[in-house]
Amino acid sequence: MIKKGIILSGGMGTRMSPLTKAVNKQLLPIYDKPLIFYPLSILMLAKIKDILIIVNKGQLNQYKKLLPDGKNLGMRINYLEQDKPRGLPDAFKIGKNFIKKDNVAMILGDNFFYGQSLSRMLLECVKLKNGAKIVLHKVVNPEKFGIATVKNKKILSLKEKPKVSKSNLAVTGLYFFDNKVIKYVKKLKPSYRNELEIVDLLNEYKKNNKLTAEFIGRGGAWLDTGSIEDFYKTSNFVSAIENQQGFKIACIEEIALNNNWINKKRIKDSIKFYGNCEYSTYLKKIIS
Ligand code: TTP
Repeated sequence: MIKKGIILSGGMGTRMSPLTKAVNKQLLPIYDKPLIFYPLSILMLAKIKDILIIVNKGQLNQYKKLLPDGKNLGMRINYLEQDKPRGLPDAFKIGKNFIKKDNVAMILGDNFFYGQSLSRMLLECVKLKNGAKIVLHKVVNPEKFGIATVKNKKILSLKEKPKVSKSNLAVTGLYFFDNKVIKYVKKLKPSYRNELEIVDLLNEYKKNNKLTAEFIGRGGAWLDTGSIEDFYKTSNFVSAIENQQGFKIACIEEIALNNNWINKKRIKDSIKFYGNCEYSTYLKKIIS
């Protein structure tokens, strides 16, 4: 079972400037909560309670005000800083002492997942012992994503933003790796854009026939929140579901309670922490 997870939550957020000039993208709202709650909730649904959040240099205090150390969730939240965006695989260099000898999950701080049987899929993914696993989702514009071709869950090819492609299966920002990731990441060289590329890391596993996939089916959604338009689209999605059905997506205290990581007393502490707001009203409802 994979028990450790990294949230890569730095980045420049260039496409969202000026919003991201003073505040990190992952602390901006998707409807009623900060973006970071969504990827964190995904790791929690995978029953991962030992988390490393990688943030930009100088932004640690902003994050710690929101998610101090995880005790309120019955988890452990650690932080490390990235001095500049060196690419997604840099997470495994920065997180080497956190990962130690274990396998690890990694999720991008700006990725939103939702859907029926998502938890089941996640619990399947954390069973990974050897190799690496990626999560694929169908898209209509493959030229904008990393695209995979697959046979029986084995990855046959990976291409970054292909102009022409037979496949429309995009590689989402959720990955599961065995401990070899620490060795492989050392071999990577920066690409033309001077970043380490996740496709190069995944190709190390593919070369060894060790790269497999899970799928988010038709009933599920994956949204990449990189642009302002994406933020509004995702916010609308969350609002529509929450207001129609009366439950919240990515209420981290609710997931912690359902996982039996905390008791109702802890939820009461969170209500005090958040103060008089709609989120607290929801928490009160959960424990009443
Ligand atoms: P990107 O979308 O590549 O970058 P960004 O979020 O900074 O946005 P922009 O392109 O507008 O500048 O990053 C995807 C996610 O990974 C995002 O959550 C930020 C994070 N990230 C890091 O934390 N460190 C990195 O070195 C990179 C490349 C990304």
